[in-house]
Amino acid sequence: MVTCYDYWSAQILEKTDIDCLLVGDSLAMVMHGYESTVFAEIELMAIHVRAVAKGAPGKFIVGDMPFLTTRKGLQPTMDAVQTLMQAGANAVKVEGELGQRELIAHIVESGVPVMGHLGLTPQSVNGFGGHKVQGRNDADAEALFTSALGVAEAGCFALVLECVPASLARRISRAIEIPTIGIGAGPHTDGQVLVLQDMLGMNPEFKPKFLRQYGDGFSFVSGAVNRFHAETVGGCFPSKAESYG
Ligand code: KIV
Repeated sequence: MVTCYDYWSAQILEKTDIDCLLVGDSLAMVMHGYESTVFAEIELMAIHVRAVAKGAPGKFIVGDMPFLTTRKGLQPTMDAVQTLMQAGANAVKVEGELGQRELIAHIVESGVPVMGHLGLTPQSVNGFGGHKVQGRNDADAEALFTSALGVAEAGCFALVLECVPASLARRISRAIEIPTIGIGAGPHTDGQVLVLQDMLGMNPEFKPKFLRQYGDGFSFVSGAVNRFHAETVGGCFPSKAESYG
């Protein structure tokens, strides 16, 4: 799985082997420059889901339920689910488990597939005191393990495990039947997810331990733009062949 936020990258990803596109609320940070995912509102999520659904009609698209939507009761939760699904998502992702098991089950019973998300759930970054690895001590690991069993029982079809020790991710992946998808969770999960811009190396300064960059996107883009600038200033763009007679 990779994240996808817009029409043009969706069109590229549509032609790749990737199984699943996540319209993550990380778009608040990556596309809009906010400090955390807390700032992704449902209207914003819907705009991006709609663009991705248009660009990648053949892919399975998961839309993130934004900050606090599942904490305000059934009606706001289902309104947000409806908005994301009618924007073109095939499933929604819900962060956390505590106090949400019944809501998750209700969404699933309503015919909407739900992907769970445990570990470093970025919407809780203020509660965690930063983007920190979760489940490091025995009590936290046990709580995470119980939550993983809980989301699986509630009917989630898959579970994202973010920034947890590899041994804990392996234990969870072995214990539950649904596929786990890791980010910063080691090699034992069933799948992996990365933020597209991160794996493309668009921000050379962002290099967390778990990230592998599959390209130097920053140099590619800035190099191409600088060549365009230089060739325009130097008078060799456009050429005769690139001009209308
Ligand atoms: O919003 C997001 O991009 C995510 C992934 C990091 C899993 O939730």
